[in-house]
Amino acid sequence: MTRKKRTAILISGRGSNMAALIEAAKAEGFPAEIVVVLSNRPDAPGLERARAAGLKAEAIDHRAFATRDDFEAALEARLEAHVIELVALAGFMRLMTASFVERWHGRMINIHPSLLPAFAGLATHQRALEAGVRVHGCTVHYVTPGMDEGPIIAQAVVPVEPGDTAEALAARVLAAEHRLYPAALARVARGEAPIVGGRVEVVQGDLLAVNGGDLSL
Ligand code: GRF
Repeated sequence: MTRKKRTAILISGRGSNMAALIEAAKAEGFPAEIVVVLSNRPDAPGLERARAAGLKAEAIDHRAFATRDDFEAALEARLEAHVIELVALAGFMRLMTASFVERWHGRMINIHPSLLPAFAGLATHQRALEAGVRVHGCTVHYVTPGMDEGPIIAQAVVPVEPGDTAEALAARVLAAEHRLYPAALARVARGEAPIVGGRVEVVQGDLLAVNGGDLSL
C-alpha cells in the first residue's frame, strides 16, 4: 500500500464525526493516518475524546489572538509541525480567511449536514423541515472561500419521516455523516477525488441510498 496521508482533524465541539474518522483510520488499509486533533475551543469535549483514543489533541484558542490572521498563523504552524498533508474539518465553527483556504486548496475537506447546495449555513435540519423536503442528508466537500460552496466529494441521503422534529432528523443525518465522512476521506487520501474544472467527477457509490445503502466509496 502507498504511504498513509498525514491528516489533521479540526473541531470545535463534541467530535462525533472526528470519532468516526479516528475509528475508521485504525483499519490497516485505510489510506489516511489521523496525526492530530486541533480545536479552536479549549473546552471542546472532542479533545478529551481524541486523547482517550490515544491521539494527540491540542487547543489553539482563537480568543487568544488579536486577528483572524494571527489565529490562522498559529494553526498553520501546528499543521506544519505535524507535517500535515490533509485537513478534515469536523464541526469546526470558525470561518477561515481566503488566503488560508487557498493555501489548503484540494487538501482541506468539510462535512456539512445538508444536501448542498441546499441549506448552506446553520440550522439546516429546521430549515429542511420548514421547506417540506422529502429527503435530506449530508455532504462532504472541499473547502473553498465561499461558505459551504466547495466541490462536492460525496453525499448521503436520508428520508424525512412523518412527524420529524429537527432533533430526530439531525440524529438520522448524523448517523449518515459517520458513515459518509470516513469513506470520503479515504477517497481523497487515495487521490481518487481530483478537482477538475471546479468539480469532482461523479463515481459509483457517491450517493448513499435512502434508509442506508451499503457504502463502498
Ligand atoms: C455535524 O453535524 C457536522 O455536519 C457539522 O457540525 C456537526 C458536528 O458534529 N459540520 P460533531 O462535532 O462531529 O459531533
